[in-house]
Amino acid sequence: MLSFFTRPATVIEPIGGDFAEPCAKIHKDCFAHPWSSQDLEAMIASSAFVADGAIQMPSRKLLGFILTRCIADEAEVMTVAVLASARRNGIAALLLDNHLQRLRTLRAVRLFLEVSEANLPARRLYSKFGFTAVGVRDGYYRTIDGANSNALVLAKDLI
Ligand SMILES: CC(C)(COP(=O)(O)OP(=O)(O)OC[C@H]1O[C@@H](n2cnc3c(N)ncnc32)[C@H](O)[C@@H]1OP(=O)(O)O)[C@@H](O)C(=O)NCCC(=O)NCCS
Repeated sequence: MLSFFTRPATVIEPIGGDFAEPCAKIHKDCFAHPWSSQDLEAMIASSAFVADGAIQMPSRKLLGFILTRCIADEAEVMTVAVLASARRNGIAALLLDNHLQRLRTLRAVRLFLEVSEANLPARRLYSKFGFTAVGVRDGYYRTIDGANSNALVLAKDLI
């Protein structure tokens, strides 16, 4: 295990389409139905989307990312994903914290997202950041074994 003094620093930066490949690898590491690098590249490169990455220094390896779509003054988190081997190190919290600040500078006033009712780590993360439930979509997610789980719709005011 690396000590506090030797642990590599992680920085949060806006990412562009050149990060699509590592984003796709992380997405595959996280979800039963991952998005392709082509789909991710199209989203990240679109002016309607805001993407931030957690980048390990000095290697510049991508450890996690967050992708949000903005429409007028509302925004929706499309995905938050952290490499399995890098979890529980505060990376998602760092990403969300920076991303929320960035969305405020882009004049977003309300942020929405959907999370599986069964995804307790993500639900705790969002709860910690003050998101509250505003709706439920019954049986919205299909897991790899064919089971269904409800989606909770969460929201947070940014101002
Ligand atoms: C959810 C996810 C993004 C969290 O990433 P992470 O970098 O490990 O999270 P952090 O270390 O920043 O943890 C921040 C908070 O989230 C919660 N949390 C994260 N992982 C947790 C776990 N395994 N169990 C319980 N709470 C957890 C805790 O409240 C934690 O705060 P704490 O450390 O003070 O207890 C990560 O587990 C992941 O990528 N999962 C797969 C993809 C996914 O489900 N994305 C969300 C889709 S809506």
